[in-house]
This record gives sequence, structure tokens and C-alpha cells, in this order.
Amino acid sequence: MFSRVLVTGGCGFIGSNFVRFVLNARPDVTVTNVDVLSYSGNLENLRDVEDHPRYSFVRADICEAARMRELMHDVDAVVHFAAESHVDRSILDTSPFIRTNVLGTQTLLDAAVACKVDRFLHVSTDEVYGSLPLDKADMRFTEESAIRPNSPYAASKAASDMLVRAAHHTFGLNTSITRCSNNFGPHQFPEKVIPLFVTNLVEGKKVPLYGDGLNVRDWIHVEDHCEALLAVLERGRAGSVYNIGADNERSNLELTHALLTILGKGPEFIRHVEDRLGHDRRYAIDSSKIQNELGWTATRSQWPDALVSTVDWYVKNPDWWRRIKNGEYRYFHEKMYGNRANASPVTGKA
Ligand code: NAD
Ligand code: TYD
Repeated sequence: MFSRVLVTGGCGFIGSNFVRFVLNARPDVTVTNVDVLSYSGNLENLRDVEDHPRYSFVRADICEAARMRELMHDVDAVVHFAAESHVDRSILDTSPFIRTNVLGTQTLLDAAVACKVDRFLHVSTDEVYGSLPLDKADMRFTEESAIRPNSPYAASKAASDMLVRAAHHTFGLNTSITRCSNNFGPHQFPEKVIPLFVTNLVEGKKVPLYGDGLNVRDWIHVEDHCEALLAVLERGRAGSVYNIGADNERSNLELTHALLTILGKGPEFIRHVEDRLGHDRRYAIDSSKIQNELGWTATRSQWPDALVSTVDWYVKNPDWWRRIKNGEYRYFHEKMYGNRANASPVTGKA
């Protein structure tokens, strides 16, 4: 339905999986990926498609208004992933979250309105709904749940959601917002709990479990998320919100023990550490709306198989995460890809 798609943040974890997913699933779609290559953006994540005839990369900041208008001049749809995405970093310093997540989204929306882009998909998070109690298992987030963000990260994403809502209402932009639960899979930056714990265990280090470890997250495999995003992009209603989840709630303690078992380590590898400030207790997604309206349901997130295959990816790709963990990563990709980083927005070639 859309033949020219602009993806923002396509060098990050979910964006890179989405670019690959779309190129495979839609033979008529051309993808331009705009990414500033922040600390979590990595050209290696898309090395296998970098010469693909229907793919091009542009290094730019989504806060650059003129640049975004230039890029949107010739696209049908925008899928917006670019963000500061880590809760702990937002506690240390909120300002980059406001800049990228709020101002960046506003800049993109303005450009999309000015360029009359046909469709704008905003990739948001279930964290905008805040936290659920542990003792009310039947309570889950629906699209009607109140927006009650607790972390600066979640607050910045909630603000961006409101701007998307306003762009639809005021300017008639054809938007959808998706709110997905915690993702896992290949190429996740090893500051998030699953890749951090897996790579620590492979290195023979302990894993830092926050607080009592009873906080619950609802885990979905990144490819299920990508498939749901494509369904919303193509068939979601204008002005709509869709929750995305896989009915897979696990406490952090349960997750940690599953990882220890997969990697053949004992409980002595758990290091109990101080809790995260304002730590949300539980996230749980009700995804009946996307199931009923778009016929989408998760098929790749079954536990423990999906977790085992994810662990296996990190075990088999130590070069990818060691470079990041050793801090050589920025230097590495600047050196390797300096020319491509200046690629033309039109041709994608340096
Ligand atoms: P990530 O940190 O791995 O990737 C973010 C990407 O955005 C990076 O490639 C980075 O270089 C790019 N970026 C950052 N600032 C930019 C800027 N100013 N201009 C251009 N590019 C910029 O994050 P992720 O986990 O892949 O998350 C992607 C999106 O999905 C985010 O919007 C996040 O809120 C949302 N989300 C994530 C999860 C999850 O579990 N990871 C769950 C639900 C929703
Ligand atoms: P994270 O991967 O940061 O995702 P989010 O905070 O967006 O849900 O954390 C997932 C859960 O794991 C969360 O409850 C915090 C916990 N956690 C730890 O216990 N130790 C860690 O080192 C990290 C990074 C997270």
C-alpha cells in the first residue's frame, strides 16, 4: 500500500529489525532509514542489507527541521522509532529525552504535515500507562487506560503521543500510535536487562537484579512487534491507538532464573542491588483491539523457546556486543563507515 517508507531510528534495536522485516515482507517497498547514530545506533545492525537496492541510509538528527522536510518530500509513510529509550539514562539526565522524544517528534510531525505524508506511525510504549499492581492479575493496560507515566522516559514518550494525537486532530495527519510491551531479540543494546544479563553471564560476571526482583514485564519477541507494526501501518485506522503484547508476563526473578538455566549458571550469579528510582511494578498489555480489528496475534514469543533462541544469538555474536561493552564501538563505526555516514539523502550513496 505504501511504496516509499521513511524509518526513523532504523539503526537501533527495533528499528533495524523492522527495516529487515519490511524489506523481506514487502518486495515493492523502498525504505529510507534516517538515524543520527547516537550511542545506541549501530550500522552493523543492518550490515546485511546495506547494499540492498531498496534500502538507503541517511545520517541526520530528527530535530533538524529542514532536513526532515527534505527527506519527507518524496515518501508515502513515516515509521517513527528514533528515541532515547533507556529508563535508567532518563533518571540520570532527562534533557536528551525531551530533545529527541518530544522536540524530535514535533519536528517530524511538522514536516509530515507540510509534505502531506499519507501515513505517520508513531512507535510508542506501554510505559506511558504507568504501573499496575502485582496483586490484581486481571488488570491490564487497554488503549483506554489513563496516561500516567512515571519515569522521565515514559513522560517524554507520553508527551510525544499527545503531539501525535494533536497532529491528527488539528491538521488531519493520518496517524496511528502503537504501545508495545518489553521487546527481546537480536541486536538489543546491552544496557537493557536481557542482553545485559546474558552477556554478563557469558563473560562469567554476576547480573545486577534491582530491588526484590518481583517487578513484572510483559515480554514480546521483536519480530512479533515488527509484524504488528506493519499491520498497523497498512491497515490501522487514522487517529487510532493500538496496544501490542504477547501475553507473556514474567517477574524479573523468573526471567533471571530462566537465563541462568539456559546458560548453565547457578543462583550465585545473581547480585541483588539497590532498586531503580520510581521503579514501575508491573506492565501487562491487553492486545484484544489489534487482534479483533487487524487479526494480528503474536506467534514468535513463546517462552522459553523464543528466549532460548535470543540467548543463542548473543552467544553466537560476541563480537557485536563485546565491541559495545568495551566502548570501542563509536570509534569503530565512525572509522568503518565514515563515508557512508555522509550518504546522500536521495541516493543513499556516499
Ligand atoms: P534503541 O535505543 O535501540 O534505538 C534508538 C535509535 O534511535 C538509535 O538507532 C539511535 O541512534 C536513534 N536516535 C536517537 N536519537 C536520534 C535523533 N535525535 N535523530 C535520529 N535518530 C536518533 O531503541 P529501541 O529499543 O529500538 O526502541 C525504538 C523505539 O521503540 C523507541 O521509540 C522506544 O520508545 C520504542 N519501544 C521500545 C520498546 C523496547 O522494549 N525496547 C518497547 C516499546 C516501545
Ligand atoms: P529494562 O530492560 O531497562 O526495561 P524497562 O525498564 O523499560 O522495562 O528493564 C527491565 C526490567 O529489568 C525492569 O524491571 C528493571 C530490571 N532491571 C534489573 O533488574 N537490572 C538491570 O540491570 C536492568 C537494566 C534492569
